[in-house]
Amino acid sequence: MSRRDVVRNGNSEFARAVVSGLSRRPRHIPCRFLYDRRGSELFEQICRLEEYYPTRTECALLARHAGEVAALIGKPPRLVEFGGCTPAKARYLFDAARPRAYLPVDICHEALTESVLQLARERPTLPVTPIHADFTRPFRLPAGDGPVLGFFPGSTIGNMQPAEAVRFLQRIRRLLGRDGALLVGVDLKKADERLFAAYNDASGVTSAFILNLIERINRELHGDFDPAGFAHSALYHAGRGKVEIYIISRREQIARAAGRSFRFHRGDAIHAEDSHKYSVGEFQSLARQAGLQPAAAWCDVDRLFSLHFLRPH
Ligand code: AVI
Repeated sequence: MSRRDVVRNGNSEFARAVVSGLSRRPRHIPCRFLYDRRGSELFEQICRLEEYYPTRTECALLARHAGEVAALIGKPPRLVEFGGCTPAKARYLFDAARPRAYLPVDICHEALTESVLQLARERPTLPVTPIHADFTRPFRLPAGDGPVLGFFPGSTIGNMQPAEAVRFLQRIRRLLGRDGALLVGVDLKKADERLFAAYNDASGVTSAFILNLIERINRELHGDFDPAGFAHSALYHAGRGKVEIYIISRREQIARAAGRSFRFHRGDAIHAEDSHKYSVGEFQSLARQAGLQPAAAWCDVDRLFSLHFLRPH
């Protein structure tokens, strides 16, 4: 890496987040930085783990209820997927809801292009309009016919703080227009052991996913963090209704990145992610606060995961 790169990277959004996040107490780095190329690959592996029930449970719910979603939206919609760089879940809606167009919104240009090319091969008659944008910030949809069906699967909404989730839903509501709707996947509250296993899998993929943040600091910010000097910790706090994920220093150490030094004592924690879990009623009340009216909610028989169909009101 040249000095110019160091200076440039030192000024990147990631560098600023790392420097300010490791300088404040409690230490915190926003979870969106978990998803560089390696992090996204590891997250895809997580989705295939036996312990990580959300993906397969949500897919089963989509397979079962896609027809009802289509009936509720009425006309062929413009299907807008937030974070749609792997359209695996949207496929369930393609056949049932027969969208006029598919508009995946994602910040990752490369992944978006890959998925558009793949869809062009698989479904040459489906018009696809990729939108390169950070969907957590305001953006506009191109004009078009048909109601907008927003799709936000995966319980990614659980990684936002509840107040942030309300603000996000308020912004989405404006994109939907009067005859649009939003389909959201939300992980449900459940027994501690199940959640512990989902975020502490036996093969260590979740740990590698979280600790990739340390490796990313080394890769991108000229860091000298020792990855073996850190461990991941994920615990469900029933009272707070969320899994809290931290990177814990295993020992006393000083590490450098982005031209700065950071000191850690043994046990010092970097907050890396929260994963909020909601009961159906709790999520519906969150949606109402954002001006969205629950029209339907579906859960699997084991009550692991929920799918919500919401309309602007
Ligand atoms: C993307 N998101 C919904 C995942 C979750 O379950 O909160 C991220 C994740 N973190 C560790 N495992 C999965």
